[in-house]
Amino acid sequence: MTEEKTIEWLKEGEFGVSLMVDQTLIPYEYKKIKIKTVDEIFNAIKTMIVRGAPAIGIAGAHGAALAAIELINEDDFINKLYEKMDYINSSRPTAVNLSWAIKEQKEIVEKNKEKTKKEVIEALIQNAIKLENEDIEINKKIGDFGAELVPKGAGILTHCNAGALATVGYGTALGVIRSAFKKDKNIMVYADETRPRQQGARITTYELIRDGIPTTLITDGMCSYFMKKGMINFVVTGADRIAANGDTANKIGTSTIAIAAKYYGIPFYIAAPKSTIDMSIKTGDDIVIELRDEDEVKIINGKPICADGVKVINPSFDVTDHSLIKGIITEYGVFKPEELKENFS
Ligand code: MRU
Repeated sequence: MTEEKTIEWLKEGEFGVSLMVDQTLIPYEYKKIKIKTVDEIFNAIKTMIVRGAPAIGIAGAHGAALAAIELINEDDFINKLYEKMDYINSSRPTAVNLSWAIKEQKEIVEKNKEKTKKEVIEALIQNAIKLENEDIEINKKIGDFGAELVPKGAGILTHCNAGALATVGYGTALGVIRSAFKKDKNIMVYADETRPRQQGARITTYELIRDGIPTTLITDGMCSYFMKKGMINFVVTGADRIAANGDTANKIGTSTIAIAAKYYGIPFYIAAPKSTIDMSIKTGDDIVIELRDEDEVKIINGKPICADGVKVINPSFDVTDHSLIKGIITEYGVFKPEELKENFS
């Protein structure tokens, strides 16, 4: 699983389509679907068929190519293309990787805008494939740097899914875990369920068990119990957006874990590529937190789990204060939150 691309451009017909694992089907079915239009890619991101910051970024890069293909017979091609790219960018607000990838693709359009429409399309496709390949290389580097930090016999807590499925392959936080496992660190992974969408239970345990990595599933409220018992002594999660001061947005519940880890003196690390660092925002207060449908909280397996009429608020992410983060593991090495400015500005 770790060597295969979970999202990739598939050459088919004249130009091709986006091919991605439908993550809503995991763990029941590992099935790839073809995405052929801008509306389909918008919907795939919004409904979390594709999810995880780096994977969403690649979906955005594919979306730019699909937009150009859709517009091939239109006048005012470039302006309409930018409009469609902005539309794709509005599908989910928190993960910066989406707007980062759209920006990368806009630069490609700018460089090629005097060329034929077909050449613009080809340039967008080639750049998307380049970003796919780079993502896997970056994750392996993150894995190698992170594995050095993992003590032998560690009990590692991770939240949500920052694995092969959240990226093109290998994963960020799960990349660290995979590399530590390969180095015979004798680890046990504690995977948080991650309500409401259960990415930890559904996707992280699926990935890790498939790779033969010892994994224990716990619910979101259990981390303090296992930390106190000494069974969890290392935490690593992914990130959706990291502000210049190191404040980090990640799946809702991450900051609770970081606070508990601080209390018990357990190192809390973020694993993320440079593309997740947003130096344009000073602190986490400026990160837009996506609010999702209340039914994600209220309904499990098609049935309501609460009293009818109850109020629900469903923020998808929270911001972990930089003071709680021991280090940010990137493809360039491990940095303290206060070191981001000098290294990534
Ligand atoms: O809502 P999701 O499932 O897209 O949220 C994903 C996360 O919070 C991940 O931890 C983050 O995107 C990093 S993925 C390498």
